[in-house]
Amino acid sequence: MNNDGVNKGRRRFLVAATSVVGAAGAVGVAVPFLGSWNPSAKAKAAGAPVKVNLDKVEAGQQVVVEWRGKPVFIVRRTQEILDNLAKQDERMLDPSSKEDTQQPEYCQNEFRARQDHKEILILVGLCTHLGCSPKFLPEVKPMDFEAKWMGGYHCPCHGSKFDLAGRVYKGVPAPLNLEVPPYHFVDDSTVIIGEDGGVS
Ligand code: FES
Repeated sequence: MNNDGVNKGRRRFLVAATSVVGAAGAVGVAVPFLGSWNPSAKAKAAGAPVKVNLDKVEAGQQVVVEWRGKPVFIVRRTQEILDNLAKQDERMLDPSSKEDTQQPEYCQNEFRARQDHKEILILVGLCTHLGCSPKFLPEVKPMDFEAKWMGGYHCPCHGSKFDLAGRVYKGVPAPLNLEVPPYHFVDDSTVIIGEDGGVS
């Protein structure tokens, strides 16, 4: 299936729905809370946090935002997706997220997410092999690269595979799980990417 059109469509949606607090960018809409938080150009270059409204991210869908010049994937996972993660542990290189460079401590758990919003997955969208952007393939169905595919990410460059917690499969070129950036929720609809905001 060619997802390019879908992804482009989602990106367009994001431009409208995302409040890019720090990054410059083609945000043509006025966002109320930006007024009181207007980082300097220097702060922008360093990668100020990005505030994202999640209201329109439907279950099973991904949106992509930019933070520090990198794509960040945000997925609202279904209960089925969460339930399927444990079934894939044996196929994962680091199923328990022991490598602590790859996520903040508060995401070092089975879902690789904050416990109070475990359905929301947030990942830096760069393959840990050589930095290509893996493709979001959430469907549970046999793929030509993986007969028992349960949804996840496939890197088009050299074939690395990741599940829907960003955990890397065994036996692929990528050596590490996808990185989970620091983030925290302001409320159930709003997440800030790039700041821990305290541990919960
Ligand atoms: S960059 Fe992803 S597999 Fe090589």
